Amino acid sequence: MLKYAVLTWGCQMNERDSEILAGILEALGYREAEDPRDADVVLLNSCCVRASAERKVLAKLREVLGWKRRRPEMIVGLCGCLPRRPGGAEELKKWRGLDLLVGPGNLGDLPALLERCRREDVPVVALDPEERLTEGLPQLRRHPWKAWVTITRGCDNWCSYCVVPHVRGRHQSRDPQAIIQEVQDLVKRGYREVCLLGQNVNAYGRDLEPGVDFSWLLRRLDRIDGLLRIRYTTSHPRDFSPEMVETIASCHKVCEHFHLPLQSGSDRILRLMNRGYTQEQYIRLCEIIRREVPGASITTDIMVGFPGETEDDFRETLYVVRTVQFEAAFTFMYSPRPGTRAAAMQHQLPREVKLARLQELIAVQKEITERRNQALVGSVVEVIPDGPSRKDPHLLQGRTRTDKVVVFAGKLEMVGHPVSVLIRQAGTWALRGTLWEGVGG
Ligand code: 5AD
Ligand code: SF4
Repeated sequence: MLKYAVLTWGCQMNERDSEILAGILEALGYREAEDPRDADVVLLNSCCVRASAERKVLAKLREVLGWKRRRPEMIVGLCGCLPRRPGGAEELKKWRGLDLLVGPGNLGDLPALLERCRREDVPVVALDPEERLTEGLPQLRRHPWKAWVTITRGCDNWCSYCVVPHVRGRHQSRDPQAIIQEVQDLVKRGYREVCLLGQNVNAYGRDLEPGVDFSWLLRRLDRIDGLLRIRYTTSHPRDFSPEMVETIASCHKVCEHFHLPLQSGSDRILRLMNRGYTQEQYIRLCEIIRREVPGASITTDIMVGFPGETEDDFRETLYVVRTVQFEAAFTFMYSPRPGTRAAAMQHQLPREVKLARLQELIAVQKEITERRNQALVGSVVEVIPDGPSRKDPHLLQGRTRTDKVVVFAGKLEMVGHPVSVLIRQAGTWALRGTLWEGVGG
């Protein structure tokens, strides 16, 4: 029996694409290799959003090509974003032993491409500039009760630092009936939580008939019996309308968690980034959320060291961090991406400056996260346990509706079912609690 391994980097969209790659291979009769070194086909589903992501993918590629030297019949494919980024394919074609380059728009071509690998000179290349919506492709879902559901593919935002529009093509919304049907089918099969995926979910429906937009979709999905939680990612603050906040406030299944990538707090830098909002507009959106959705958590992505960012610009970012009081922030050093406008801008900053700002930002946010987590001690929260805690397998680990990790003692049968947990202790990474027997526990 032929065996496969699919290795994944990057965002949830890539994780989702890997479920499709694995599903296609299973449909062809392959089975997942326990040890990827024994696989007949190894696919690396790659990310290129930052230079560090690329470095990790390429280090693994080197390792996999090392396995192949011992087993020359192994087919090695590089899928996803890296081969699609400007210059990516040319660089990858130099790697001896790499058989296949597959872009995010060509997942469905995998069976034909594998055939070609066996017959033709390698590497076989399929890197369509536009993604196709992947209706009807086989898939292997990795989680027993949580499911990713794609609602848009591609991206039309053209943030000046970002490689994604170059890689994944233009924004396309999936047919609403196909989405609703998929969620209904998932719920029938026992799934309780969905995460709606897109590069800018708030722009859902813009390319469809009038009346179909993200709010409409949320309201429609909120009515599906048996579904417990609806999440979505990624949001764009520019397109997050007050009406969407109201919708989320009124939809019981839509979780009170807002991930709103800020990127920078400086109006000057936001303009250079082509983000389409100002510091004031961003802060106002967060105020509306806090007012309309009590107990909401707001998390963010922030980048330091964009070309020309001054100390004052960076202070503006810290100002927003302190004003909004994010629950958590994913923080990055800007890295130039080939083909993007920002990569060609003057005044690229030295690594030491970026690193110093990153460290300061992390320290400021850490204190805020700890304070906000501390404020939850003594409260009772709804947790759906995912399984045993990674750090201590005797305990269960799950997430609140606000996307906080909670660790507590419970039985394995509770996995996938909502329980009430009394929070007793707070850290930066997780909360610790005990089952609350008072209600429903
Ligand atoms: N350099 C550093 N970080 C980046 N991101 C996107 N492009 C870059 C880049 N060129 C970050 C943004 C985005 C997150 C997924 O990655 O913060 O929200
Ligand atoms: Fe990485 Fe962006 Fe591609 Fe996701 S879409 S895998 S974050 S480059």
